Amino acid sequence: MEIINNPTHDEIKKAAKALKDGHLVAFPTETVYGLGADATDEKAISRIYSVKGRPTDHPLIVHISSINQLDKWAIDIPDYAIKLAQEFWPGPMTLILKRSDLAKDFITGGQENVGLRVPDQSVALALLSEFEKIGGLGIAAPSANRFGAVSPTTADAVMEELGIFLHTEDSILNGGQCVVGIESTILDCTTNFPTILRPGAVTSEMIEKTTGIKTSSDFNKNRIRSSGLLESHYSPKAKVVIGATAEPGDGFIALANIPTPKGVIRLASPENSEEFANVFYRALRRGDQTGLKQIIVIQPSGEGLAIAIKDRLTKAAAGK
Ligand code: TXA
Ligand code: MG
Repeated sequence: MEIINNPTHDEIKKAAKALKDGHLVAFPTETVYGLGADATDEKAISRIYSVKGRPTDHPLIVHISSINQLDKWAIDIPDYAIKLAQEFWPGPMTLILKRSDLAKDFITGGQENVGLRVPDQSVALALLSEFEKIGGLGIAAPSANRFGAVSPTTADAVMEELGIFLHTEDSILNGGQCVVGIESTILDCTTNFPTILRPGAVTSEMIEKTTGIKTSSDFNKNRIRSSGLLESHYSPKAKVVIGATAEPGDGFIALANIPTPKGVIRLASPENSEEFANVFYRALRRGDQTGLKQIIVIQPSGEGLAIAIKDRLTKAAAGK
């Protein structure tokens, strides 16, 4: 397994070819790093599940190069979903749509729906476009971490999570730190109004403004399976506690205007919710590397990205 730093165009072309040959390529997106495989290659997809240690009935997001690829993978696409794709792609939003015949059970976990996204990151877009030039139709990519663990936002974090499980011909494209830092907004678009399954940087206000339709967040867990919806997920080794008084020796993550309690190890001091999302997973990882037992997090208040941070934080805290 090779880490390719600041990949050149030729190196990206080589990675696209490796995907076509059935190997795995981890790559940066604007949200988190993904572990990629050819979305039509059942054997390559089964390796994603074993490398991640993920149950096989959990569906994967198929990454496509542009909105033009949408109707290869999805059918009966509602107008509001087209509007959303036009407005927010490339970007941190995944649409769940009724699947076409191309989206096999090994991608959808046996469900009739498929998750699709155009990522907004130059290496990812170049990889998708080179993959397409050689006949590729989409790259399936879950976050490049072991099942239930914290998503990686740097190539080093991918290496740390998955390095020992990858093969010689697999690779990690290092495109630097992810800009958003938490996973995409997931929207169920299989009914006549959108339902947020996982909050992210594309917020309900943004969705309602674009579609003119009220979004829902009270989804039916039995209808759609989404591992990010499990009560416990995104968890570091350290115990994460929300809003408690930090004791000496604890890790501490809070907005910059909140002072560091005495004897506590400050892991991050973001200025606002955007910065909070950007540094959050890296800060949790640093806590684990330092061997901390407990990390206290003071969550930012408000709407927008604060909602997504709260969601990940609640799940991280449920982990232990
Ligand atoms: O930002 C992201 O979305 C990143 C980057 C790499 O694109 N990907 C990501 O993938 O977070 P993953 O697999 O770690 O999380 C995707 C979530 C999972 O909870 C999965 O169950 C759900 O999306 N999902 C995928 N396809 C689905 C489908 N057809 N129906 C319902 N949920 C789906
Ligand atoms: Mg994940």
